[in-house]
Amino acid sequence: MEPGAETPADVLGEVRGYWDADAETYDQAPDHYPQRPQEVAAWAAALRRLLPEPPLKVLDMGAGTGFLSLLLASQGYQVTAADLSPGMLARLRAKATVRGLAIQVVEADAEHPPVDDFGAVVERHLMWTLPDPAKALAAWHSVAPTGRLVLVEGTWGTRGASPAELVRQRARQLARSLQPPRHAHHDEYSQRLKSALPHADGLTPDEVVTLVEASSWGKAGRARIERLRDVEWAMADGMGLVDAIIGPPPRWAVIAGR
Ligand SMILES: C[S@@+](CC[C@H](N)C(=O)[O-])C[C@H]1O[C@@H](n2cnc3c(N)ncnc32)[C@H](O)[C@@H]1O
Repeated sequence: MEPGAETPADVLGEVRGYWDADAETYDQAPDHYPQRPQEVAAWAAALRRLLPEPPLKVLDMGAGTGFLSLLLASQGYQVTAADLSPGMLARLRAKATVRGLAIQVVEADAEHPPVDDFGAVVERHLMWTLPDPAKALAAWHSVAPTGRLVLVEGTWGTRGASPAELVRQRARQLARSLQPPRHAHHDEYSQRLKSALPHADGLTPDEVVTLVEASSWGKAGRARIERLRDVEWAMADGMGLVDAIIGPPPRWAVIAGR
């Protein structure tokens, strides 16, 4: 290791610290924690379409404050929510208690998931922040060897964005600069942390499909990809006129396994 380079433990420690600090305000951003009934229903429908029918044991990796976990548990799935940030998990736990939902909550990093025989592993917005996504995918397959993988992601950065999407990104930035500031995150990852993560600028659909097919998940057959247009439509319906015309960033899911 080069002098001054971060060890894997340093990287995970910094990531954990970031999300512990972000936990307080994470849910305030509507795209982090959608609350409009139409949008929540669009997500619920997408999850039902992407996953086998409940009851099924599902591991939500990088569960955060629990958007997917709570939606899944309320639809009859037996959910284990794992995340390395105790601060994020505390929010999830509190919401599950208020709603009377039984969710197993585990503090774990993505490369060391809780051991069980899961019927599915899901994640939303986690891949970009993993130090070694290939290692994580292998670990998730080991706890769901005959199950399904559902990676819920989106195109936020410029990498892999189509020319039309690049224009929309510019338009979104411009529209945002003309509006009062909205909550997103308390801060950005430090340059040092970004340089220790292979995909800190986001992953393209091509990259996610390639990673999945190269992993043990790929042995069960080809990866599939779906654009989550219903979720985008529901999001756009809750936006102001300019944002709705530009449209939200593309949302998509990569699916593998049975
Ligand atoms: C962008 S948030 C997404 C949270 C949640 N999945 C959602 O859809 O709202 C990323 C989450 O991944 C967690 N995380 C980041 N790196 C992780 C790792 N190596 N292992 C486990 N969780 C991790 C963070 O603590 C944070 O809760």
